[in-house]
Amino acid sequence: MAAVWHASHMTTSILFVCLGNYCRSPMAEALFRHHAREERVLDRFRIDSAGTGDWHLGKPPHRETIAQLELHGIDATGMLARQITVDDLRSFDHVIAMDLANVRDLRSLGGSPADATISLLLEELPDTEITEVPDPYYVGSYDVTYELVDAGCRALLARLIHEHPLPRT
Ligand code: 4NP
Repeated sequence: MAAVWHASHMTTSILFVCLGNYCRSPMAEALFRHHAREERVLDRFRIDSAGTGDWHLGKPPHRETIAQLELHGIDATGMLARQITVDDLRSFDHVIAMDLANVRDLRSLGGSPADATISLLLEELPDTEITEVPDPYYVGSYDVTYELVDAGCRALLARLIHEHPLPRT
């Protein structure tokens, strides 16, 4: 369902998606939550993450994802991997994928046009040549992933705040 912003209580919902919900999307969830809290707009968002695959269900993020977040003082607690469902496409406003394979998998779930918008995180960074967040589970370099995901989350948050300029709490 599209976001409805009321003067008194406004929320928009964002679901970050990757393959395993183990490395990139939990990193994005934690970073977006952190920046929204810093900007004093956390209560305007429902933030979650999910994977298209089911290998790590119920597990906390990869230790190197947690290590990167903790290195930067970002809260990494309380996240457990889960798999996306078609209901997620109905109940979130924005589904933000890490790569094009995620987008293909999301589209194959068979949602409807009224569902969440599906986009790539790095579309938020039009001046960046790279368009997909590389999967560190396969290629390593969790620090590079962290920098890309952090920049994408900051830009996404800035765009949403700009599109819905409302008082901060
Ligand atoms: P993610 O990385 O999509 O960034 O969570 C992966 C984690 C685990 C697997 C694949 C990708 N796996 O096949 O177990």
